Amino acid sequence: MSVGSAMERLRRVERSRLANLPTPLVPSPNLAAHLSDRPLDLSIKMDAETGFALGGNKVRKLEFELAPSRLEGVTCLITAGGPQSNHCRVTAAAAALLGRRCVLVLNGPEPRNPTGNALLHRLFGAEIRTVSDRSLREEFMNREAREEADRGGKALVVPIGASTALGSLGYALAMEELLSQLGTGAPGYWIFTSSSSGGTLAGLTLGLSMSGRYDVHVVAVSADTKAGEMKDHALDLARQGAALVGWSGDLPEDRIITTDAFVGEGYGKPTPESSEAIEVFARHQGVVLDPVYTGKAAAGMIHWIRTGMIPDGQKVVFLHTGGHPALLG
Ligand SMILES: Cc1ncc(COP(=O)(O)O)c(C=O)c1O
Repeated sequence: MSVGSAMERLRRVERSRLANLPTPLVPSPNLAAHLSDRPLDLSIKMDAETGFALGGNKVRKLEFELAPSRLEGVTCLITAGGPQSNHCRVTAAAAALLGRRCVLVLNGPEPRNPTGNALLHRLFGAEIRTVSDRSLREEFMNREAREEADRGGKALVVPIGASTALGSLGYALAMEELLSQLGTGAPGYWIFTSSSSGGTLAGLTLGLSMSGRYDVHVVAVSADTKAGEMKDHALDLARQGAALVGWSGDLPEDRIITTDAFVGEGYGKPTPESSEAIEVFARHQGVVLDPVYTGKAAAGMIHWIRTGMIPDGQKVVFLHTGGHPALLG
């Protein structure tokens, strides 16, 4: 299938409009001057400002997962995550907007005084079930779905992070949006993003393949997963996403770089580099990052800039995937 018709199919895939699009691409010369002695063209793609329920990358993915036809007869949305899950925040808000019950299966103890996303989960009216370990989440989601069916209702189980082939289409469109904002003419472009469950990276990969551009690299900085595993999973999802829109072009595997060098001691545990990144973005750009995802992704980007891994004259984009409510958690 030609690029044109696959792109048309992608644009026409049914979705619920939740996000405020396009998000701005903000030139960031002040931050760039702080990070490099040499001229650096740095911008931030503000997906923290997708708008709905305090925004972030989950909004674009959930537009597809919660498409109107998938919601027919659905009485309850069920999903899972950590106690400060951004994905659970946006799913709970979408359930509120759509007039459905929401059950969140969260691993970790019930907080005494919920803050950040934990507070928002409850504010949006979600019913919380806690499990002692993340390995139990799937089983509990399925159990909740069976109980909803026994009561005569119908549950839609949204996979963790909405990182499905369908959800990833939100980031294939985001790549198209970003590339049109960036234009052409520079010798190269480097897009830095946080990655975990892989849907964002999968969509960016598919969108880049469909764009036909060879001048763009994507660097995905892991929040938890091993780099190789993360890349394989994202490529697999991107292939499934391509099948959904009838796209058979090659994926730009060699221009998708994954790294787990900035995870530190583990998921959600700050590192000196992520704490520095959060401070630098706040003080030199007025932009709030989060400690779990974007702080570590920014630490990765800063390292690449400072160690000269980006050739002179090439443009750098930091994709801000949101998550900032967790900073107040
Ligand atoms: C703020 C934020 N950034 C990045 C990610 C990673 O995105 P993905 O799960 O699509 O890899 C997540 C979710 O896990 C997130 O909440």
